[in-house]
Amino acid sequence: MDMQVIPAREGNHNLHDYEKTRESFSWEDMKKDFSWNETGKVNIAYEAIDRHAKNPKKKDKVALAYSSPEREEKVTFETLSKESNKFANVLKKYNTNKGDRVFLFMSRSPEFYAAFFGILKIGAIAGPLFEAFMEQAVRDRLQDSEAKILITTPELIDRVPQDELPNLEKIIIIGNNVENKERYIDYYQEMDAASEEFSIEWVDLEDGMLLHYTSGSTGKPKGVYHVHNAMIQHYATAQWVLDLKEDDVYWCTADPGWVTGTSYGIFAPWLLGVTNVVRGGRFTPDDWYQTLEENKVTVWYTAPTALRRLVSCGQEVLDKYDLSQLRHLLSVGEPLNPEVITWGMKALNLRIHDTWWMTETGAQLIVNLPSLEIHPGSMGKPIPGIEASIVDNEGNEIPPNQMGNLAIKAPWPAMMRKIWNNQSKYESYFINGWYVSGDSAYKDEDGYFWFQGRLDDVINTSGERVGPFEVESKLLEHPAVAEAGVIGKPDPVRGEIIKAFITLNAGYENSEELLEDIRKFVKTGLSAHAAPREMEVKDSIPKTRSGKIMRRLLKSWELGLPTGDTSTLEE
Ligand code: PRX
Repeated sequence: MDMQVIPAREGNHNLHDYEKTRESFSWEDMKKDFSWNETGKVNIAYEAIDRHAKNPKKKDKVALAYSSPEREEKVTFETLSKESNKFANVLKKYNTNKGDRVFLFMSRSPEFYAAFFGILKIGAIAGPLFEAFMEQAVRDRLQDSEAKILITTPELIDRVPQDELPNLEKIIIIGNNVENKERYIDYYQEMDAASEEFSIEWVDLEDGMLLHYTSGSTGKPKGVYHVHNAMIQHYATAQWVLDLKEDDVYWCTADPGWVTGTSYGIFAPWLLGVTNVVRGGRFTPDDWYQTLEENKVTVWYTAPTALRRLVSCGQEVLDKYDLSQLRHLLSVGEPLNPEVITWGMKALNLRIHDTWWMTETGAQLIVNLPSLEIHPGSMGKPIPGIEASIVDNEGNEIPPNQMGNLAIKAPWPAMMRKIWNNQSKYESYFINGWYVSGDSAYKDEDGYFWFQGRLDDVINTSGERVGPFEVESKLLEHPAVAEAGVIGKPDPVRGEIIKAFITLNAGYENSEELLEDIRKFVKTGLSAHAAPREMEVKDSIPKTRSGKIMRRLLKSWELGLPTGDTSTLEE
């Protein structure tokens, strides 16, 4: 382990005295900055967009600096406010109301953001879906949420199993020459006719705004439900952790289908009225550097996978670009290797600030702050207002330097408020007043937290969370596959890759072509990132006597580790 400590960053910080602030801080104090503290009228869309659009000094500021290989566009706060008003009117016209689930299945574009805020403005619940999802992933989420409206594009409509979605009343299609089907609505036609005026639906802080589906180790993906109150923590961490100031140009690489792409790709920068860079499409190292240079990005929030790719593409690529504007760099989603931090100091002369949190937590919790030393390999310390600890399986705190469950004292402002349609799952997260994360970690004597791994079988591949059960279920749908067990296998660039062990049905021979066919089957049915990169055919898959796949054992075999207790193994 690289124990070299990196000193605090010099200069002004939005959170200068960490210890003192922690002692005196309460979330109540932070509420004073919001208009609803006086008016009692709440909507996160108002605080993020309309408030700036109404401010003569802010309305013409660029809110969204969008680019993709095909298109470039700058959208001001005023325009985003008006466009989202129009979309809110379209939703109202089709009888969409507070609490209804409205899903977005599309790539990032200016239309996405107008639609997203339109949904929030009517008090409905937005469900953004990752654009790489295939039919089954889309079906599971739209069925479980009983979505009423879906917004999508002609390129993606074929992945929507329309016959299996009885609750889906309308599909709003963003594209030209929209087919004339009863359920279809032509986005451009409706938007052209819609009014720019809309009186926003004022909601309660505890009313829902967002559903993010995420994977556990068992069952289908779960709908993590977030409420407007989360804005308090988005706002606080935008200042303390992202270190945003009025004139910053900020870029978060995450897709809004994942929680980082909403909490920090949408809410955090716009709650502070900061210019937000969005780049559509997949990225190469050149694309990343080019986007940073062209937009003069000052604050960049990305993932270890991306940073590792930048490290491996070398200095020659970096030397082509002028990144002198970049002043603050952050990472999330998987362990940040100390070597990458060392690279950041050498190649960019910047500290890389790791941040830890989850879909369920709604916002950053344990972080490296500009005003604190970085201990490379550590996720940092809990933000003010958050109590973090390491607990045993009964929820009792354990002493420093001992590994256990990473846990957070509940509640906090951005915490999920339920799992959609699954109260018992929701309750299972909490033990003795602690939210238990499923990650193992330890805390050192200085109060720094060190991530050790997942305690369950959830796979983290390139920062994307994949449930082994979903992949196994999909594998079993292939006619050749009799049994399947799926694990995450350590990988130097992707963190983990997905490895599937399968047994074959009678009549099928193990061959490269067959394995490739099975891989493609998962890729086109579920999504590219869920397709196993490695596959191995076995005579049998280890199971417990009650029939549960023993992934732990598969993993030990794969890595050549001791197999531990195998007393429950089926004969
Ligand atoms: O295992 C932890 C890992 O990602 C999980 C949460 O994944 P997801 O809900 O998709 O949210 C990702 C982004 C908020 C965690 O349980 N993880 C997240 N951040 C870190 C991390 N692992 C190590 N270091 C981190 N900084």
